[in-house]
Amino acid sequence: MPILGIDYEKCNRCDICITTCPRRLFKVDGGENLKYEDPNLMCIRCGHCIAICPEDAVLFEDMGEIYEFKGINKPEEIISYDNLYPFFQAHRSIRKYKEEKVSSDLLQKVFTAMQCAPTGRNMRSESFMIISDKEQMKILSDTIQETITNDKAWGWLYGERLAYLAKEFEVPVYFDAPHVIIVYSQLYNVIGIQNIANIVTYGRLAAHSLGLGTCWNGWTQVGMELDPKIMKLARIRAKQLGAFTIGYPDETFYRTPPRPFKHFKGFN
Ligand SMILES: Cc1cc2nc3c(=O)[nH]c(=O)nc-3n(C[C@H](O)[C@H](O)[C@H](O)COP(=O)(O)O)c2cc1C
Repeated sequence: MPILGIDYEKCNRCDICITTCPRRLFKVDGGENLKYEDPNLMCIRCGHCIAICPEDAVLFEDMGEIYEFKGINKPEEIISYDNLYPFFQAHRSIRKYKEEKVSSDLLQKVFTAMQCAPTGRNMRSESFMIISDKEQMKILSDTIQETITNDKAWGWLYGERLAYLAKEFEVPVYFDAPHVIIVYSQLYNVIGIQNIANIVTYGRLAAHSLGLGTCWNGWTQVGMELDPKIMKLARIRAKQLGAFTIGYPDETFYRTPPRPFKHFKGFN
């Protein structure tokens, strides 16, 4: 059991844990004693009770590291909307990369940021695979290209474009990027693809903040879904996956592309 109970020496009975726990596993028994009980193993290990307790009085084991916010505990003081919004606006899919590999230190930062992404029910079934070997990327790219091109519907959509890219790039599916990262889960989950999308987005935005460029690679997902044997070439076994290229951008954008706004309703 990850949450072990309450350190009563520290607890000041603010009872914030009661309403914070999404499963309501902290209870006041007979109006007196605060207790943590989880006979049906309902805890989803979200750790909110640990994170919110002002007295650090929740006892736990085996749940990973904790970081104390040092001085800054309001997200808006870490990054303001005025900084975040232009950062979003400047975020582009990068399809031209420098040959230079990204250092393990920087890649590690991207993986660490991906760990922060929330997943439904706090399931954490995803794994990451990074491929940096050009030969392996080429074999993967060629196989994905062939599979997509030979499929009637996908071939109609992308066959010609991939053939065109193959004249320009050695590894066309990955635009000659130095690395491709695959986020995958061996378990199928109805909302699994949303979980993976969240993780990929965290990784891509973190990469952007490090001066790196990325591009979501739907072709990898499509190719592997059309022919799961392609997964072997990437040394993964997955029920659901997402992929993105990563490297140093070799293109500069001077303005945002014009985009029609998505519609919203119900706003006065
Ligand atoms: C789920 C998803 C899958 C994508 N797959 C591909 C892909 O396989 N190949 C590609 O060149 N771009 C891919 N893209 C990039 C989109 O074309 C790109 O995000 C879109 O044109 C908007 O451009 P921007 O990201 O620069 O704003 C994908 C994007 C998303 C969100």
